[in-house]
Amino acid sequence: MNTEIIKVDPIEPDRKSVMRAARIIRKGGIVAFPTETVYGLGADAFNEAAAGKIFEAKGRPRDNPLIVHLKGAEQLELVSLVNEEIMNVARKVWPGPVTLVLPRAHDLPDPVTSGLKTVAVRVPAHPVALALIELSGTPIAAPSANLAGKPSPTNAKHVIEDLQGRVDAIIDAGETFFGVESTIVNLAVNPPVLLRPGALGTEELEPIIGKITVPEEAHGYESEVAIAPGMKYRHYAPAKRVVLAGDRKNYLKILERSAGCGIPAAICSEEMKPAVDALGIRSIIIGRESDLYTVARGLFSSLRILDETDADFGVAQPFDERGIGLAIMNRLRKATGHTIINSPDELPHALYRQC
Ligand code: TXA
Ligand code: MG
Repeated sequence: MNTEIIKVDPIEPDRKSVMRAARIIRKGGIVAFPTETVYGLGADAFNEAAAGKIFEAKGRPRDNPLIVHLKGAEQLELVSLVNEEIMNVARKVWPGPVTLVLPRAHDLPDPVTSGLKTVAVRVPAHPVALALIELSGTPIAAPSANLAGKPSPTNAKHVIEDLQGRVDAIIDAGETFFGVESTIVNLAVNPPVLLRPGALGTEELEPIIGKITVPEEAHGYESEVAIAPGMKYRHYAPAKRVVLAGDRKNYLKILERSAGCGIPAAICSEEMKPAVDALGIRSIIIGRESDLYTVARGLFSSLRILDETDADFGVAQPFDERGIGLAIMNRLRKATGHTIINSPDELPHALYRQC
């Protein structure tokens, strides 16, 4: 398949260019596009065959439902059952990086919701995404635009790496704004439950939604039960092994010892870099600890960069779990396959290496 690359400005996208992509969606094709969180891979949410193509292109298991993207809260009743309370919440959180799980409307095709009685919906706060939905004339079903299991794409280069030749078009509008996916909250239960921590912290959502239950799994700890269907799969993982230090205080000790196990790459903050340099170990900077939004933006890129280096494995630093930090730690724990270590003695077992 020939993949058309359409370059547009992220803030003032040329409507003719976005129209080219919208025509593809209207005709039942699939298009990767930027949102404020990560790039999505979109299809007409009401076209069963088109939605099916998304699963093919990503290698995504069919039991992992998609998020339906709307151009505004007023479209909500096209896809879900609504009442005044839900509309109030929707109007306050959208457009923005929050996905609401709601009772589904009957006429939504099955591949989108994987046959569940609920549907995940959001209105993205990105000019290109909004223009695309508007010009397509239909809600757009879209998961993140990566191959299943890989880190989500935060720029068009990531999408091209994963999906070139597998999708009809990729809209390139540079880097996304947040770098981690939306926060998913299940509003179909009372009290609401956090299904996936994301770009907007629960601290900011609770004044709007009320008390949100945060299950242990939201931290990204290993668990038998998946709270959102997609959370049970291996996720966000680079090809190379990554271990995560359980505590910032042990990080340098663990990193130093890991150099006896092979070639490490430190996946760390700008603040940590001088100490890492002093050990003579290569670093991949995620962002600044003093501004966790920069860490969120750099997170998935740093995991992809690890695979491009000649390091044997990555050793990641932990971050504060407040606000967007909960999403950062959730993704890091999953990316390491839950290999969290608290002492250098655990390295040989964690890395499957003699050291
Ligand atoms: O920021 C985002 O949310 C990005 C952009 C493109 O919007 N999208 C994204 O989609 O991250 P995806 O498919 O990678 O993650 C969607 C998650 C999956 O874990 C899926 O299982 C869950 O949402 N999900 C979808 N429908 C659901 C439902 N009805 N109930 C519970 N979880 C649902
Ligand atoms: Mg995804």
